[in-house]
Amino acid sequence: MKEKLWAGRFSKASNQIADDFNSSIHVDSRMYRQDITGSLAHAAMLTAQGILAQQDYEQIVSGLEGILQDLDSGVLTIDPQAEDIHMFVEAELTQRIGDAGKRLHTARSRNDQVALDLRLYLRDAVREIRIQLDHLIAAVLEQAKANTDAIMPGYTHLQRAQPVTFAHHLLAYAMMFTRDVARLSDAVKRMNLCPLGSCALAGTTYDTDRMLTAKTLGFDGITLNSIDGVSDRDFCVELLSAMSVIMMHLSRFSEEIVLWSSWEFKFVELDDSFTTGSSIMPQKKNPDMAELVRGKTGRVYGDLMGTLTMLKGLPLAYNKDMQEDKEAIFDAVDTVHHCLEVFVPMVESMTALKDNMYAAAQKGFINATDLADYLVKQGMPFRSAYKIVGQLVAKCIREGRVLEDLPLEEYRALSPLFGPELYQTIDLHTCVEKRISAGGTGMASVQVQIDYITHFLAQE
Ligand code: ARG
Repeated sequence: MKEKLWAGRFSKASNQIADDFNSSIHVDSRMYRQDITGSLAHAAMLTAQGILAQQDYEQIVSGLEGILQDLDSGVLTIDPQAEDIHMFVEAELTQRIGDAGKRLHTARSRNDQVALDLRLYLRDAVREIRIQLDHLIAAVLEQAKANTDAIMPGYTHLQRAQPVTFAHHLLAYAMMFTRDVARLSDAVKRMNLCPLGSCALAGTTYDTDRMLTAKTLGFDGITLNSIDGVSDRDFCVELLSAMSVIMMHLSRFSEEIVLWSSWEFKFVELDDSFTTGSSIMPQKKNPDMAELVRGKTGRVYGDLMGTLTMLKGLPLAYNKDMQEDKEAIFDAVDTVHHCLEVFVPMVESMTALKDNMYAAAQKGFINATDLADYLVKQGMPFRSAYKIVGQLVAKCIREGRVLEDLPLEEYRALSPLFGPELYQTIDLHTCVEKRISAGGTGMASVQVQIDYITHFLAQE
């Protein structure tokens, strides 16, 4: 066992079980690139400020760059016994370049170092997720464009309610995903401040230039309170909450895809390559990908709740509890990433079964509101019209008919305001076309939505 970097104060080696319990290397080793990038910026700043000698700096740079190269190429593997990635890199550096390596940690603590590394890591991870969300929005947009003529029942309470186009329904999801992108970039704005230089908690006696380090690392500025700089994990909570909302949206979409691909609905056919069979039932084609996305939503909610709970009782400043932040947020990042990775091509390759949607739209009296509106436009108060149409629907249900089948006399028996144009009014195409209100399912509104999403993507 190598000597601990902090061994000086202790008269006894630490217990192996305690060491294993304490170590976070299995979780934080994925931040090695960010750790090295942060150290390079820190060393450059120390040198610019005259705190570190030029020749030490040069050794540190070549040492760190060598470690990065060797880790990237696999020549160097991360020691699973190391306490964490920060200790591993520093120990490796010192082993490679000697005393200059021991100077790197001047005016720095692991507390601000880990806060920095995590922000750097998440900044990249969020960029990735944003790109994936853009791809998803593009896939949904393409499906919407191909289905502006597909009339389906819109639902409330999962009961057929009013006719909409499949395009309109899909664009609802596109709108949600644009907000998800906005939430992520909003959280990044607050996260993109550099905590390095906060040191253990109180700042340092060295004349550091925190703005320089922040600039080198692409931050918009520095955190202004050193205690906050090392204690704050709001950025994790915000990102976890943004990711929970993404998963909630994906899960609702998944639920609909599961329903739509059932024989009961058969509104869509998933591509064979994104479904699975059954080990016993030869006829089965299961929407496992959508189900798994729905299922994994719970993990991300758990990551959010776990992090909030971990933080709630912590006194300022750093506490070791906070090491738990990474396991949760990395799990969430990975889960969202993998879900989007499969979800995008699943949506792209999904086929809308327009005839089945239309057939379903013809059942369930989803043009009843239009019939009531027709009477209102002839001068009848809405509540009276509502009642008459309700009676007509009840009659149809009793007799196994639909509104389109009833002869005009039967309509007129309930109100003389009914005329022959009513049949045109209750035609499903008319019902959709006449939904001219902004944001409605009418074609003009759907086109506005398509333009909005297209513009959104062009700006991304
Ligand atoms: N592995 C630690 C973490 O992830 C790094 C910070 C440790 N700081 C300390 N003073 N023990 O939180």
